[in-house]
Parts: sequence; structure tokens; C-alpha cells
Amino acid sequence: MTDLDPSLDLPRWKRVWLGLDSRARLGARRGRIGRGKQARRGGNDSARFFREWLRNPVATAAVAPSGEALVALITREIGEWTGPVLELGPGTGVFTRALVARGVDERDLTLVERNPAFAQLLRDRHPHASILVADAGELGTAIATDTPRFGAIVCGLGLRNMKPELIEAILTGAFAHMAPGAAFYLFTYGRRCSVPAGILSKLGLTSRRIGIAYRNLPPASVFRLTRG
Ligand SMILES: C[S@@+](CC[C@H](N)C(=O)[O-])C[C@H]1O[C@@H](n2cnc3c(N)ncnc32)[C@H](O)[C@@H]1O
Repeated sequence: MTDLDPSLDLPRWKRVWLGLDSRARLGARRGRIGRGKQARRGGNDSARFFREWLRNPVATAAVAPSGEALVALITREIGEWTGPVLELGPGTGVFTRALVARGVDERDLTLVERNPAFAQLLRDRHPHASILVADAGELGTAIATDTPRFGAIVCGLGLRNMKPELIEAILTGAFAHMAPGAAFYLFTYGRRCSVPAGILSKLGLTSRRIGIAYRNLPPASVFRLTRG
């Protein structure tokens, strides 16, 4: 990889992927909370998540927050160099916390969460982020048109449970707010991308699996969607 000219005009995710961006390898900044507190928070969040799942299993789409291996995989190409980041379906905020630990400024985060209880929790934990209690299928109206374009989108939604029309609306809205060359990251418990091939081709998107988090329960694949 080192024979590539570091000044190449590549999208950020590609620079990280090719190892041209050293900031990627510097890794995550240390989190601000200690291990004990983190463990307690994890336990509380699991209970909270389970309660929300009991209340509305289809919308919550999982019985527990994503595990560390999946969190690391889905956020690994994102950092302070990415600029504004949009997160869809943050839940209790496991991805959010990792994004901040990786150097994304909290002020650069926009979180779209439909569940008001999760949204309040996120507001308490990330007071400088923009938190929208909204449906990810309505990004066109939920996000102001003058909002700076996102350098990356992290999607925690259970796309497999959604109708194709909703998936298409989410992706159309998301890509309308993305900077050129930015990537949309999603995870799925299946081996194939959870966005139907017909929708990918209709929207001119390319999907590539960037890895599998085997240590997640259940194991999850992460896909990167880009335009073109
Ligand atoms: C599978 S959970 C993932 C939570 C978190 N990202 C994680 O990995 O632990 C899906 C989350 O998306 C939210 N959600 C589901 N449908 C949504 C929609 N249409 N718009 C916004 N949020 C939604 C749920 O409330 C839940 O917090």
C-alpha cells in the first residue's frame, strides 16, 4: 500500500482502508469513563434495552445493545477527520460513544432516534450532539437543508425488519445529506447486505462487506455503501 501517493485525492474511507491516513492507525482516543463505570453502564443499558424490546420488539429490533466487536468494526473507518457524522437508530448509544472516543466532536454528531426514551438518554449523555426524535425514513424533513454534509453515516437500524419502501426512503434521504465520497455503514445479522439489490442499483449504490464481528451475539456483518 505504501507505493501509493499519499496526496491522492481519495475519499476518506478509502484512505483509511488503504492505510494512507495515519490518523486511522493512531486508533481510538481513550474513553472518558473508567472500566468499572463502563461495566455498570453496560449492565444498565442492557436492562434498559431489554425493557424497550419488550415494549416494542419490532421497532427495537434487538434484545441488547451491540457488542464491542461490532462497535469497533462499524466505527473503525471513522474519526476526527470525517467531520459531521449522522447516526441512525443509536439506541443506548454504543456506536455514539465509540465515535466520540475515536475523535468525532460531539458537536459534529447528529443522532436520529425514534424512541423518545433512548433519545432522552442520549441527550443526557451527549449534550452537545443534535438529537432528533424522528423517523429515519423522513430525513428529508427531519434534517435542515443547510446542515453541513455528513462525512459518514452509521446505521444501527434493523433494516431486515423494514419494508423495501422504507429502506429506499432512508437511503435516499441519507445520501442527499452526504458529502461526496462519504460512506454509509450498516450492520446485519445475515451474510448478505440487508439492502435489496434492486434498491442498491436503483439508487446507484455499491455495497461492500468490510468485515464480520464473530464475537457479537449473533455474529454480524458490516457493509459499506457508497455512491458509484
Ligand atoms: C437494533 S437497535 C440498534 C441500537 C444501537 N445502534 C446498537 O447497535 O446497540 C435499532 C434502534 O433503531 C431505532 N429505530 C428503529 N426504527 C427506527 C426509525 N424508523 N427511525 C429511527 N430510529 C429507529 C430503535 O428505537 C433502536 O434504538
